[in-house]
Amino acid sequence: MSSLLEITWTDPVTSRKGYVVIDTLVRGLASGGLRLRDGCTLDEVRGLAQGMTRKESLVYDPADRYLPLGGGKGGIDIDPGDPEAPEVLRRFLAAVRPIVKEQWNTGEDFGLRQETLDKVAADLGLASTVEAVFAILPDADAARQRLAEAFAVNVDGLCLADLVGGYGVAQACLVTAERMGLDHERVTAVVQGFGSIGGAVARYLAAAGVRVIAVADRDGLIRNDAGLDVELLLGARDGLGVIDRAVLRPGDRTGPREAWLDVPCDLLVPAAMSYVITEADTSRITARVVVEGANMPTLPEAEAALVTRGIPVVPDFLANVMTNAWWWWIVFGDIEPTAASSYSKIDSTMRRLVEAVSVEADRTGRTLRACALQLARRNAEAVTERAGVTG
Ligand SMILES: NC(=O)c1ccc[n+]([C@@H]2O[C@H](COP(=O)([O-])OP(=O)(O)OC[C@H]3O[C@@H](n4cnc5c(N)ncnc54)[C@H](O)[C@@H]3O)[C@@H](O)[C@H]2O)c1
Repeated sequence: MSSLLEITWTDPVTSRKGYVVIDTLVRGLASGGLRLRDGCTLDEVRGLAQGMTRKESLVYDPADRYLPLGGGKGGIDIDPGDPEAPEVLRRFLAAVRPIVKEQWNTGEDFGLRQETLDKVAADLGLASTVEAVFAILPDADAARQRLAEAFAVNVDGLCLADLVGGYGVAQACLVTAERMGLDHERVTAVVQGFGSIGGAVARYLAAAGVRVIAVADRDGLIRNDAGLDVELLLGARDGLGVIDRAVLRPGDRTGPREAWLDVPCDLLVPAAMSYVITEADTSRITARVVVEGANMPTLPEAEAALVTRGIPVVPDFLANVMTNAWWWWIVFGDIEPTAASSYSKIDSTMRRLVEAVSVEADRTGRTLRACALQLARRNAEAVTERAGVTG
């Protein structure tokens, strides 16, 4: 299916490319983050924008005030660690400012912190990068206030907004493990990526008793089969989600970052870039289940090969849906701007979704992705009926 709108921007200074793709609009609005990645392509952003359309409709609950939006996404082809990155980001956002103001509600994604994005937005005269949605709210001031309060919440040293997505992924892991008859206390996990999503997945899996035995960041793999001290590692991250190796304990071993696929474990959680599990990689995977914390980490042929081997893949637009949903639950007033209210809504929604999709997969013999897609489509029809004409 083609997108509604695709923008390719060329930075006048560095010639780097940036992209915005609006896949769908509901009530004139789309939602989806902005990523910074060296090598990022229009095709990648298109796929991510389609994923956002699915995420928006998948969580639809007629009882919520939040009525899903359409899906969009942005990407800039630059390494987040490149010294030019902040200025390229600034010029990109200045160029696409009208679309941010009118249609595309955006936020952090791979390679970009919300804090950084908010600073750039403020310089451009925007209250935040979530701006367009306020036009449809009856009390926009109250919604802005709730969002500000939610963003000020800190949970054991980390901002709640940076935790909710990974908390949701951890819940997807835990509910799936339970359904497979696995006892959390005996389960092991390996996580690729230790930023917003990966860091929070590791934190909340460890809190549930899961042994997190390896994590990978830009600089390599850290492994300890007895279990890593996740909180210690979280406290030693830099702005690129890289762990300071000086804090490692005697049993912690380091290795090449590619080795994350070779570590025997129960839960394998890609939570960094896209396209990291290819068909050729699948023979290295011994996990019982792959839970996609990242967007589009598993190539379709790889997923087919895993499923044939009896390793289910919990798809990205289900497992990592919670950052997006959380913003809207706060903005629309479905939850209080507190950690307790946020986590309680995530728990109940993730359990409902994973169970519905898993029951359907068991009943039909289809994949979790196919069943989640079917649910997202069904919900999209219900949203269209309620919202009226889209676009
Ligand atoms: N942040 C969100 O709210 C959000 C929401 C939904 C989905 N996602 C998806 O989750 C994934 C991660 O996003 P994030 O926001 O946590 O990113 P992030 O920038 O916060 O963290 C990325 C992590 O990946 C690590 N990394 C970078 N290159 C690596 C490599 N080659 N090998 C191993 N690790 C590497 C970094 O060191 C860092 O720890 C992305 O696919 C993103 O689209 C993010």
